[in-house]
Amino acid sequence: MTRDSRMKNILVTGGAGFIGSNFVRLALSRLPDCRLINLDKLTYAGNPGNLVDIQDDPRYRFVQGDICDAALVAELFADEQIDTVVHFAAESHVDRSIDGPAEFIQTNIVGTFTLLEAARQAWLVNAAVAGDKRFLHVSTDEVYGSLGETGMFTETTRYDPRSPYSASKASSDHLVSAYFHTYGLPTVITNCSNNYGPYHFPEKLIPLIINNALNGKDLPVYGDGKNVRDWLYVVDHCTAILTVLHQGGVGETYNVGGNNEKQNIEIVQTVCDILDQKVGPLPSGEPRRSLIRFVKDRPGHDRRYAIDAGKIAAELGWKPSVTFAEGIVKTIEWYLANPDWVAAVVDGSYQEYYRQMYAGR
Ligand code: NAD
Ligand code: TYD
Repeated sequence: MTRDSRMKNILVTGGAGFIGSNFVRLALSRLPDCRLINLDKLTYAGNPGNLVDIQDDPRYRFVQGDICDAALVAELFADEQIDTVVHFAAESHVDRSIDGPAEFIQTNIVGTFTLLEAARQAWLVNAAVAGDKRFLHVSTDEVYGSLGETGMFTETTRYDPRSPYSASKASSDHLVSAYFHTYGLPTVITNCSNNYGPYHFPEKLIPLIINNALNGKDLPVYGDGKNVRDWLYVVDHCTAILTVLHQGGVGETYNVGGNNEKQNIEIVQTVCDILDQKVGPLPSGEPRRSLIRFVKDRPGHDRRYAIDAGKIAAELGWKPSVTFAEGIVKTIEWYLANPDWVAAVVDGSYQEYYRQMYAGR
């Protein structure tokens, strides 16, 4: 039994960010009978320009606002008769969490609490909305800490977050779990590995390297470059979320990953080689690998992440469909085809454009 027929009004938080915008686009195409309400504060990472192609869809509504704003969130639950929450909104960059953890505590922990409390009030206390509800919390494999040379994270791996980012996500996961056990809120959690693909903000490794390599800038590789991440193409993450929304068990956790473990240095070299093939070497004639610079390591840098996605495969039949070899080429082609998007997010001009646009509403 799937929830398709009962899922009508979906509150997506953080839908103007990287994964959220890919999800909104996919969900509108796959769920023709649903409305999507995208609540996004538009921090530096949120860009409604990620969704220009669907912004006029009558089933889509954008609301600029903060998930920590309890009155606004309660109003949305009531006005829109929300029956499903897909919660992406977060501060998401580990390096920023090291430089300034306060926003991570506020949005990732207090913001998640605010949403949970609004869902509890609307669905369990006031019980104004009939039918089957779901609160899907989008989380990360980073809550499990760091692996050695072997082993994989499973849903039962002990939480051991190391960065302010992962600690704030771990805290939010615990709150979600507590709302299930204490109040019976119908929650489900997904813990996913590193995503890559279109609309990825160029502060994260892959888009940063693509952009710098294209522009002949240094390619900073932290430490010895041998840290390992398990990469998943973003659209595969979004199909996993849809699968969990339809079939996932209430109170369950599902690990999501691509089974694509790569050392950072391999990723950087691959991006350089693909760009050399597609646009030619640097103006100096040198290959782009010549731009690689090993720089000071990130403090507390987790050595290796690897996801065992066996549970979601066995129980819900989800598997990734894009290999890393395919996905990285698609991603690079997207960045080559969208230089205006990259320029606007790198210089921040998109923020002023949308600030003016929403100021008038
Ligand atoms: P992102 O930084 O690209 O986007 C975050 C979005 O949240 C932005 O649109 C931002 O404006 C919005 N936002 C931030 N604070 C807000 C607030 N207080 N109120 C409302 N909106 C707010 O992040 P992403 O990479 O798309 O990640 C989305 C979610 O997925 C996060 O919860 C993250 O922890 C999780 N996740 C990310 C990855 C990854 O590789 N990027 C992997 C696993 C899980
Ligand atoms: P990142 O994209 O920030 O994701 P996360 O820290 O959430 O895994 O970083 C991915 C890996 O790349 C991580 O091991 C840190 C490394 N890294 C670099 O070596 N150089 C960079 O400039 C960045 C941003 C990351």
